[in-house]
Amino acid sequence: MQTVRDLNMLRESVAAFRAAGQRVALVPTMGALHAGHVALIEAAKRPGTKVVTSIFVNPKQFGPNEDLARYPRREMADVRLLNEVGCDLLWAPGVDVMYPEGFATNIAVAGVSEGFDGAARPGHFDGVATVVAKLFNQVGADAAYFGEKDFQQLQIIRRMVEDMAQPVEVVGVATVREADGLACSSRNVYLTPEERSAAAIVPKALDEAERLITGGVTDVAALEKAVTDFIASEPLAKPEVVALRDPETLHELTEIGEKPVLLLLFIRFGSTKLLDNRVFSPKTAKFAKVA
Ligand code: PAJ
Repeated sequence: MQTVRDLNMLRESVAAFRAAGQRVALVPTMGALHAGHVALIEAAKRPGTKVVTSIFVNPKQFGPNEDLARYPRREMADVRLLNEVGCDLLWAPGVDVMYPEGFATNIAVAGVSEGFDGAARPGHFDGVATVVAKLFNQVGADAAYFGEKDFQQLQIIRRMVEDMAQPVEVVGVATVREADGLACSSRNVYLTPEERSAAAIVPKALDEAERLITGGVTDVAALEKAVTDFIASEPLAKPEVVALRDPETLHELTEIGEKPVLLLLFIRFGSTKLLDNRVFSPKTAKFAKVA
């Protein structure tokens, strides 16, 4: 696998892939790669496709009170993993390549970026949209892979691509979980051993929501309250957001009907905020009822 840090070299490598008749798929990351990132790369690996993974810890998506310096950086281990998984090219630009002096552009996606992490972390999603748009332009990939774990981020990127007619197919990949169901995340390393075992309540709460919805609960507030109480039964868990929403717009819902619904969870354990979500579709509900 090649590691490339220079934009002209990247363009030459991508042109060589294309000259060989290959499609190009991009997996944007901030490194500290884990099984969730690997699943994106595995999904991107198709016959006739070259996979480009980017590693860039994006300063624009960290707020002034968020510790950019503390974000885990371990490129050597990442390169080893990328080689094992069969990634074809690592795009690892420096900050000077991504944001050279004079860089002045900001991409803001209204609506879907405004609640939840958008409200809690001002500027965060502008930083994400700006860097992802630039990565799309740098790599010129046919397809780009993102995790459903960061559901709001995925929907913001879908919105941006549609609004700006960016010529890239956005593919969402199901959340990869640890043995007890906790979603793999670079944040999990910040949990103490006690918090780590308590965090198993988060995926259990998604199961509980599914049980309630398939059991016929249609009242949004009642469902949100039941799930909040369920999580709060774990003393170390502080539920910050338990919200049932429209999966596409993240708008509020009046009731749980036939259309798919999204449950978003932001649960704090000490200083660490964990995110999880699940989409419940009428199809899932019917299947669960039969089973
Ligand atoms: P990062 O947190 O490194 O995540 C990179 C990608 O991996 C994202 O699309 C994220 O949703 C996905 N991912 C993380 N955990 C996952 C899991 N357990 N299962 C499946 N996919 C998972 O998200 C970012 O970086 C940045 O915001 C980025 C998009 C790279 C822009 O800087």
